[in-house]
Amino acid sequence: MLEVRDLVKIFDGFVAVGGVSFDAPRGSIGAIIGPNGAGKTTVFNLITGHLRPDRGRVTLKGRDVTGVAPHDLCRLGVGRSFQRTNIFPRLTVFENVQAAFVSHRGRGWNLLTPVERLYHDETRGLLESIGLADRAGEVAGFLSHGGQKQLELGLALALEPEILLLDEPTAGMSASETREAIRLIERITRERGLTLLFTEHDMEVVFSIAQRITVLHQGRVIADGPPDDVRRDESVRRVYLGEHR
Ligand SMILES: Nc1ncnc2c1ncn2[C@@H]1O[C@H](COP(=O)(O)OP(=O)(O)OP(=O)(O)O)[C@@H](O)[C@H]1O
Ligand SMILES: [Mg+2]
Repeated sequence: MLEVRDLVKIFDGFVAVGGVSFDAPRGSIGAIIGPNGAGKTTVFNLITGHLRPDRGRVTLKGRDVTGVAPHDLCRLGVGRSFQRTNIFPRLTVFENVQAAFVSHRGRGWNLLTPVERLYHDETRGLLESIGLADRAGEVAGFLSHGGQKQLELGLALALEPEILLLDEPTAGMSASETREAIRLIERITRERGLTLLFTEHDMEVVFSIAQRITVLHQGRVIADGPPDDVRRDESVRRVYLGEHR
């Protein structure tokens, strides 16, 4: 589904991403981990077109998409959520998801349909599947932090992605919210046959669902492979033990 080759991003002489390569096979669940500042979000931004790489290539379904703009990548099936939420806080939960459907599919020929009926069934269906149906009428900005992250996942799904990039989907959540969110993400990935790539600091979450783990440290890949191999990797242990010293 996705091939990342030798990506480099330099900010004012500072090498944030220094030659990163990895693959995300179709239908796989992959995690990108690493200490704060390792370059995880920057790699996501390079893949989703929010940043242009100084070098390297991003290939999506066999097609070179390096430097393609975010909205075009979105049309090609790349969905994402952000480390900080990206919802419309003053709209209701329902209106947020509905707006995502309208922006993705357009108003089409429904010129006589009242706005509130647009994509009504699709919006309802999606809210059911992400467990927010009973909160549809609530103002999004008043949802709990976990609820807002859940909604953000809904906004990404409304754009009908084939590959989903989630940047710290459980950041700031309580332990029980985290468990619930991970179950939800895993179920949706499976039900929709998505490819999932996520970053995460909670190692319990990472090792519970990732099939492949790519470890970044100071903008470079120090390990990449199945969870068991990564868990045993000496350089990974050094980086993580060093962090807690
Ligand atoms: N726009 C920018 N301009 C300058 N430096 C940046 C910019 N974006 C990121 N950086 C730097 O690049 C490095 C990698 O940042 P990045 O946000 O990708 O790390 P991260 O792995 O996502 O960290 P975290 O776990 O804290 O989210 C950091 O040192 C950061 O300060
Ligand atoms: Mg980050």
